[in-house]
Amino acid sequence: MTELVQNPPLDGAADDTRKDHPLWSSRLAFILAASGSAVGLGNIWKFPYITSENGGGAFVLVYLFCIALIGIPIMIAEVMIGRRGGRSPLNSMRQLAQRDGLSRRWVWIGGMGMLASFLILSFYSVIGGWALSYVGNSAGGLFVGADTETIGAMFGNLLSDPYTLLLWHSVFMVLVIMIVARGLSSGMEKAINILMPVLFALILVMVGYAMSTDSFGAGVSFLFEPDFSKLTTEGVLTALGHAFFTLSLGMGVMMAYGSYLPKKVSIVKTAVTVSVVDTLVALLAGLAIFPLVFANGLEAGAGPGLIFQTLPLAFGQMSGGVLFGTLFFVLLVVAAVTSAISLLEPVVEWFEEQKGISRLGGTLIGGLSIWALGILTILSLNVWSDVHPLGMFERFEGKTFFDLFDYVTANLMMPLGGLAIAIFVGWFMSKQAGENELDMGNGLAYNLFMFVLRFITPTAVLVVFIYNLL
Ligand code: PFF
Repeated sequence: MTELVQNPPLDGAADDTRKDHPLWSSRLAFILAASGSAVGLGNIWKFPYITSENGGGAFVLVYLFCIALIGIPIMIAEVMIGRRGGRSPLNSMRQLAQRDGLSRRWVWIGGMGMLASFLILSFYSVIGGWALSYVGNSAGGLFVGADTETIGAMFGNLLSDPYTLLLWHSVFMVLVIMIVARGLSSGMEKAINILMPVLFALILVMVGYAMSTDSFGAGVSFLFEPDFSKLTTEGVLTALGHAFFTLSLGMGVMMAYGSYLPKKVSIVKTAVTVSVVDTLVALLAGLAIFPLVFANGLEAGAGPGLIFQTLPLAFGQMSGGVLFGTLFFVLLVVAAVTSAISLLEPVVEWFEEQKGISRLGGTLIGGLSIWALGILTILSLNVWSDVHPLGMFERFEGKTFFDLFDYVTANLMMPLGGLAIAIFVGWFMSKQAGENELDMGNGLAYNLFMFVLRFITPTAVLVVFIYNLL
């Protein structure tokens, strides 16, 4: 049963936007939802190919380090801001700044995060659409016996056809809108309660399938045997950037989910659990994918095409390939949907706080605008592939709308958001706020957390940020 409880109003703060505020029904519900947000295309599509591009095991080690040292502290900070503010990211930041007598300018952390989630969902949904169309391709037996050219052409034809892309992008957004519009408990929580167990089951089935090949050992050593000679500075920075993306950090999503977190739940324990689940799924995805690639004598380092080109080739050559190929793309869709709903939620929560806008209205306004913006990504892949809107600036030369959205969110907005969140909680928010929200007492764990948030996290993020800008 879901409780509908009002978070206690914040003392001294304007409370005019506040209605009954629902809460996750349990700690588990939050863990599933936040893991659903974290586990997405980033784990199953991006992690395997950036791992192979950066030489395997050594990269994985650095990535684990980044998750532990930078990812987890920022996740704790974000969820804490959300729960304490009890509102959309923008209004939670306003509340917290007001409460501690800080500048109103801190509000931009929430605002920028919401803008970033808006932009990310517009292209995330297009890629989710690719996954949907590949469920059909696999189930229809199109991979069976196909050679590299055929599979390459299949992907090429999809990207070059704006109408097909629009169709799948629309189907994906409709799914997301339908879930989010129904609200926290009867929409998101219900969907997540079904989708997350399906996701876990599917990933285990896929790993089981990979174990049945004779290349499982090769996959394991590729992922877990570090060869530091293959690790570059760029690889380290990629690992850090990916830690942000994969944990859905720096953009208010965890704040929005945190705003529905009951007071009695431990933020630290849940943040650690969510990060562990996310990391496990990324590693399992690697264990599911690389053995299939190696078993078929294919190259692991196939870049973004690893999943949409190399893997279908493998499925086409293997026994049971139709079934397992289809299950794999269903897994990808499920992972993408549970992340996409978390990208829409902050925007919808904010709309709901405006006078006279219902949840349904907010979801439709937010969802349809994001859908419309997605058309720019679709056109970037074909008709407008030569349109480079900011081409006059050297940094953005040759970048389509899609490239720009991806670049600006991943390289500027997410790290800036993460940096600002770490600085806000580490240096500005009152000590009492942290002590109230986190059950770490005043001991070693709390001091360590604060030390990391004050010094390590901002330094690491700044280094990546500056490197990316140069
Ligand atoms: N964490 C998601 C993934 O790994 O695919 C992507 C994502 C979701 C990023 C939500 C950011 C976000 F706010």
